[in-house]
Amino acid sequence: MTRKEQIKSAYKLTGGHASFYDGMMTYSTLAGKAICRIVWNMDGDKNLRYLEKALSGIPEDFSGKLLEVPVGTGVLTMPVYKDLPEAEITCLDYSAAMMETAQKRAEHAGINNITFVQGDVGALSFEDESFDIVLSLNGFHAFPDKEAAWRETYRVLKKGGTFCGCFYIQGGCKRTDRFIKKLYVPKGFFTPPFETEDSLRQRLTGMYEEVCVSSVEGMGCFRCRK
Ligand SMILES: C[S@@+](CC[C@H](N)C(=O)[O-])C[C@H]1O[C@@H](n2cnc3c(N)ncnc32)[C@H](O)[C@@H]1O
Repeated sequence: MTRKEQIKSAYKLTGGHASFYDGMMTYSTLAGKAICRIVWNMDGDKNLRYLEKALSGIPEDFSGKLLEVPVGTGVLTMPVYKDLPEAEITCLDYSAAMMETAQKRAEHAGINNITFVQGDVGALSFEDESFDIVLSLNGFHAFPDKEAAWRETYRVLKKGGTFCGCFYIQGGCKRTDRFIKKLYVPKGFFTPPFETEDSLRQRLTGMYEEVCVSSVEGMGCFRCRK
C-alpha cells in the first residue's frame, strides 16, 4: 500500500463508528469533519496532505527501530505499521487509556512487532541513540515540558537517524489561533508556548541536519536528520 492509501485506510477503518477523537483525527465522522473545517480550516485533502508530510520520514520498507511518541489511540499510525512487519516499533504515551485503545487496535490488525510503553516524553527510559526513527504526531502542542521533550527525542535518536512529525504552530491560520487561545488552552487540551513555522525551522536547524519544515494551515510538519 502507498502511504496515501495507508492514511486513507485509517479514515475507512474508523468510518461511522469512530470515537469523537478518532473521527476528528481521521476526518471520518460528521463531528470530526466539522471540527477540522471550523477549527483547522482543513478539508479531507488538506488533512491527507499534512499527514503525508508528517509521515514522509518513514521509508515504505523500513526495517529498523522506530519510536512513536505520543501514540495516542494509534488511529493514524497502525495502518502504516501494518505494512512494516520487519520494523521494531515502540509506542509510548503518558495516558494508559489512550494507549490501551492503540494496543487493542494493533491486536485487531494482527500487528505483533510493537512494544507499548507508558511514560513521559520528558524522561524517556531508553538508552542514548536507541532508535533509527523518532516519530511525533500532534504531541508537541500538548507536552507540558517542551524543552525536555526536544532534549529527550534528540537523545534517544541514533546519529544519522530521522526525526519527523507534526503539531500545531501559531500563525498558520488566524482562525485556528483564536480557537487554540480561547478554547484549547483554557480547557487544557494544548499547552503553550507554541512554535511558529519560523521558530520551528530555527530550532530544528540548531539541532539537526537536512531540516525540512512546512505547514498546512496551522499544522507544522517537519523531517530532519541527526
Ligand atoms: C493529541 S494526542 C496525539 C496522539 C496521536 N499521536 C495522534 O496524532 O492521534 C496527544 C497525546 O499526547 C499524550 N501526552 C501528553 N503529554 C505527554 C507526555 N509528557 N509524555 C507522553 N505523552 C504525552 C497524551 O496522553 C495524548 O495521548
